[in-house]
Amino acid sequence: MNAGTTGTSDWIWINGEIIPMADARIGVEDRGFQFADGVYEVIRVYNGRPFTLAEHLARLEQSCKGIDMPPPVTRETVADAIAKVVQRSGVREGMVYLQITRGVCPRNHLFPTQCSATVLCYARELPPVANPGEGEGVKLLGVPDERWKRCWIKSIALLPNVLAKNQAIAAGADEAVFVENGVVTECSASNFFAVIGSKLVTHPVGSKVLPGITRAVLLECAAELGIEVDERPLREEEAVRANELFITSTTREVSWVARWNDRYIGQARCGPMTLRLHRALQQRVRQETIPAQ
Ligand code: PDD
Repeated sequence: MNAGTTGTSDWIWINGEIIPMADARIGVEDRGFQFADGVYEVIRVYNGRPFTLAEHLARLEQSCKGIDMPPPVTRETVADAIAKVVQRSGVREGMVYLQITRGVCPRNHLFPTQCSATVLCYARELPPVANPGEGEGVKLLGVPDERWKRCWIKSIALLPNVLAKNQAIAAGADEAVFVENGVVTECSASNFFAVIGSKLVTHPVGSKVLPGITRAVLLECAAELGIEVDERPLREEEAVRANELFITSTTREVSWVARWNDRYIGQARCGPMTLRLHRALQQRVRQETIPAQ
């Protein structure tokens, strides 16, 4: 694609400059490339505005801390970069991918003493998600959780997640759900929730669960709706017998789960609590991203 003639997605903010994506260069010895020594964020853009930006920037700082990297740029710089790249790309409904690596320096496992981080972000259009309760439910494939114990860091080292997702697709499913010692943690790129009786159950964030921003907003919505939440480990046998299951992420919002392996969940359609919560999330999106008249 020619950056000069196309509308969206051709621009990247990289180390302080906005340039055509095709002209961006990353050094071979970038530690992100060689060691997956970096962190990232995916931020949703609605109506040309980033949603829950402050929460994403706070998590980015936590991730930097988690890999012993002082944040190389301020929150203000990142926010400004995002605003500029969204504007330049012309993206209205989409996402921003933001990545920080420890930078380029001669390959050595030891942290470099003199090296400046590589910071970049770009925007992409996304197709609209299905309306709450509509669309086909997601099919999950249960897979062993072979990831590390620092899943709260939004690390770019995603190979176990990539392998799990591909295993799910190869098996005719849509998303992989990780199970460790019989306990359901989260999915390859989303958080996991069950509705059991009148309660909403989800694994606590931490060593095996990313503090998802959508998860956090949804828990706030649940509190506002008076839904009781139980943050606790959930076993696979309990999960497959739940009334409703759903998964959340920045890019998918809320997706109801129709099947786990060969087993249908609940009534094999979107359940009422999933529907209420997804509607509440969309209400929050509208409040925060549609300018007041
Ligand atoms: N992934 N858990 C994992 C392992 C994830 O990769 C993600 C998001 C989530 C949900 O987090 P949030 O609600 O903040 O998006 C949970 C992003 C979208 C990705 O890698 O593309």
